[in-house]
Amino acid sequence: MSKQLTTILATSLALLEQFQGALSTSASASTAEDRSKDANANALGLLSASSAALKAQVTKLSLLAINSPFTHSAVTGVLRACNDSVLPSLVTAALLVTPAEYTKAFHSEVLLLVRTTLTEFTTLVQQVKGIAEEKDRAEKDDPKKKEEDLSKSEKDAATLAAGRVWDACDTVTEVATKGVVGFVMRRVEEWRDLVKDAVDEIEGWDPEEDDDGFFDDLMGGDKEDEDDGADDDDEGDDEENAALQAEKKSTLRFLKPVMQVYPAIVTNRLKKAGDAPLSSTNGVAKLETLMLNLQSIPEKVDEVAGALYEGNASKSAKYLKKIQKCASQAVETVTLPWDPANGAEGERPAEDKFTIWSRTWFKVMDEVSKSIDAESSA
Ligand SMILES: *[C@@H]1O[C@H](CO)[C@@H](O)[C@H](O)[C@H]1NC(C)=O
Ligand SMILES: *[C@@H]1O[C@H](CO)[C@@H](O)[C@H](O)[C@H]1NC(C)=O
Repeated sequence: MSKQLTTILATSLALLEQFQGALSTSASASTAEDRSKDANANALGLLSASSAALKAQVTKLSLLAINSPFTHSAVTGVLRACNDSVLPSLVTAALLVTPAEYTKAFHSEVLLLVRTTLTEFTTLVQQVKGIAEEKDRAEKDDPKKKEEDLSKSEKDAATLAAGRVWDACDTVTEVATKGVVGFVMRRVEEWRDLVKDAVDEIEGWDPEEDDDGFFDDLMGGDKEDEDDGADDDDEGDDEENAALQAEKKSTLRFLKPVMQVYPAIVTNRLKKAGDAPLSSTNGVAKLETLMLNLQSIPEKVDEVAGALYEGNASKSAKYLKKIQKCASQAVETVTLPWDPANGAEGERPAEDKFTIWSRTWFKVMDEVSKSIDAESSA
């Protein structure tokens, strides 16, 4: 192997390892440094530009690796470009995406995606190294023999590795292009779908279809009573079913406005927000609160469903109240529009359609929670 190629392969692999280390410790190291807005705007631009650049280099590298003749100088050139500028830019961009300026969740997402990209790229570089070593061996065995093509499986492996780097680069570019608010919006839509699935399941649940034995066991039903008390049991079951049906109905009535919070916030507070939420610390904090609350609702709805199936009204009520708290906090956080990017200090943004919607929403929640409170204390 040419000395240059040996060196750059070793350097690249060492650099990749070093970068992985830098990205895995950055979560604790990065703080709210005073960076200019321009640097902010550029972090995502740099991120998408450098991931696109890496993708282009990877295309070249994989073609050079699988086609004969294997040209050491060309492969060296591509690796050098990655080492000297493409990879350092990618990692720098990722490190500029701090949790304080871009939210914790977005920061973690970017680090994760860039680390994945580096991992996939490392695999490709290792394969290129393997190919270079193999060509060396073949040449040593028979220096006069014409260079042979790689086997199909070797070519496939290199192409596959390149494809995986491409996918990773595309994901980074997409996340960088959509930005923080785009990312938050996607998460909120995922949580909305989870809530909807859980509510659909509750809707489809028929208490009467449940295994009676299961409930009898839970209610301490006694097997010996089964024969002589058949009629009483039926009556008891009817009552129990009616109670469960009522419980199901009031639960769904309660969850309906909760579900509406998701699309309302997406439409009114995320879709057209642009970078406004990021223009202030306050805006970033609001995004954090919004995500925290909207994310925690789906699992609580699952708990409500579980409590319903168990016939445990007090447990169901407990989780419904928690859901109400989270949903209310989310709505409250974004009741007013985002602060205008260059709004005067202390100036409150004007109320809008969503602000009015939120007032009605709070009234509705008060209404539907009355029946929950009544039922759980009954
Ligand atoms: C790799 O890049 C670093 C800077 O990122 C540079 O110092 C080093 O000389 C480069 N190595 C090679 C072999 O080009
Ligand atoms: C209902 O759920 C609560 C937990 O929230 C539990 O402590 C209680 O024992 C359950 N009641 C019944 C009847 O299963």
